[in-house]
Amino acid sequence: MHNQERTPLLDTLLAHARRDVTSFHTPGHKNGQGIDPKLRSYTGRNVYKLDVTVFPEVDSLHDPVGPIKKAQALMAQAYGVKYSQFLVNGSSVGNMAMLMSACHPGDSVILSRNAHKSTLSGIIMSGVWPIWIQPKVDQHLDVIFDSDAAQIEEALRQFPEAKAVFVTSPTYHGITTDLPQIAQLCHAKGKLLLVDEAHGAHLKFHKDFPTSAVEAGADLCVQSTHKILSALSQGSVLYVNSDGVDITRVRKILSLLQTTSPNYFILASLDAARRQVFFQGEKIFGRLIRLAEQARERINRLQRVYCFTQGEIRAKGYDLDVTKLTLNVTRTGLSGHDVEHLLAFEYGVQVDCADLFNLIAIMGSGTTRQDVEKLLSAVEAIDKKEPGEEKNWVLQLPSLATEMVMTPRDVFLQHRAKRVSLSKAAGHISAQTLTPYPPGIPVLIPGERITKEMCDFLMDLADKDIRVSGQETEALRSVKVVATR
Ligand SMILES: Cc1ncc(COP(=O)(O)O)c(C=O)c1O
Repeated sequence: MHNQERTPLLDTLLAHARRDVTSFHTPGHKNGQGIDPKLRSYTGRNVYKLDVTVFPEVDSLHDPVGPIKKAQALMAQAYGVKYSQFLVNGSSVGNMAMLMSACHPGDSVILSRNAHKSTLSGIIMSGVWPIWIQPKVDQHLDVIFDSDAAQIEEALRQFPEAKAVFVTSPTYHGITTDLPQIAQLCHAKGKLLLVDEAHGAHLKFHKDFPTSAVEAGADLCVQSTHKILSALSQGSVLYVNSDGVDITRVRKILSLLQTTSPNYFILASLDAARRQVFFQGEKIFGRLIRLAEQARERINRLQRVYCFTQGEIRAKGYDLDVTKLTLNVTRTGLSGHDVEHLLAFEYGVQVDCADLFNLIAIMGSGTTRQDVEKLLSAVEAIDKKEPGEEKNWVLQLPSLATEMVMTPRDVFLQHRAKRVSLSKAAGHISAQTLTPYPPGIPVLIPGERITKEMCDFLMDLADKDIRVSGQETEALRSVKVVATR
């Protein structure tokens, strides 16, 4: 049993910095001496003493035997899992590693199409066949739901050969799916459950939050410790939570994917964030839950801005991390992007992201009552402004029950692609990803058969001058397809 009060990596790094050791190692700024003065005048010098490289005192991320090994063991114990591995390229690298660790080329994985873009990178690198579940689009709330248990059960019945199921819970909007039931369904059929819990590193530490992935029984799970807890950006963790996954393989794959020069400041911040949430999580998140619910109530008294509630999400069979505030602004006559801009430049409040309909305000362990007050005052002022003309934008998605003809990896590596006009693309195999925002779900994925409905949808977007992520030409008139001859 480890003592959770300890922070072995943070302590080692601080002790090293305090000793003022002369650096003949990378990085070249040498404990901050060579940092550009403009930058150093803002930050001070101390912070650069934490930016060291791999040497025995501070341990190696790729082959840990000292403080990194101890810090990872403490993290594993705090979350109640078999093994944890620190990540310095966010949950993005974690998603890739989960797919590569759980599967071999040619295996298939059931997943919802709204998965984060790093999941597609993982699909390409692991060489798996994706079995796509169509996400549910809620045109009343203007949000998207990941797979529920019934969809997973049906997919497992239709595709008994699947090796694993991959779900995103919570989603960007804080919506969680019924992970305990999904875990049961997967394990009853001998499938691995992989969870992208990038937005949920805090869930385990307050009883009023939805069940976390590792408590539900996910075999592998990835969390962005930096998103809600106090780790620095990029600081994330991959957890192994069952005997169904080979830890040595996970480590080898992460060694393949991660830098050999990890930022020790980020690594030490993971150690510190773990201790903080372990001892103070209940208090920090109890306070945030109360603040968020009060904020939600105040927003929902406004005329034109709306924030969906836990009750509404539960009625749809999902649950909600209430600390995520999704502000729907369609009735202001402004887009989410417009309101984001107003908030940032007129009121000095920056939200995490915006789309046509919504803004997402994310609370974290550092959020104060004053911050929430500032956000609410700004939103209340915007709500009082003369509304613009209400737009009739609709969150929609064509039917994407797709046929995968080649694995995304084969398409990516073969590079035998040609461009055809969208009006003639139906029947071809896509060689590119095209993702309109919103809803941020790829309409085309490499390796799948293009349907007329997809082409019509994309041509309609092009006619409305809506730019689609992944389009490589000025106007979206053509698409890259696999050249079969
Ligand atoms: C659902 C989800 N998964 C994964 C990621 C990637 O996380 P990171 O930014 O830590 O790489 C994100 C990023 O926003 C995300 O929203």
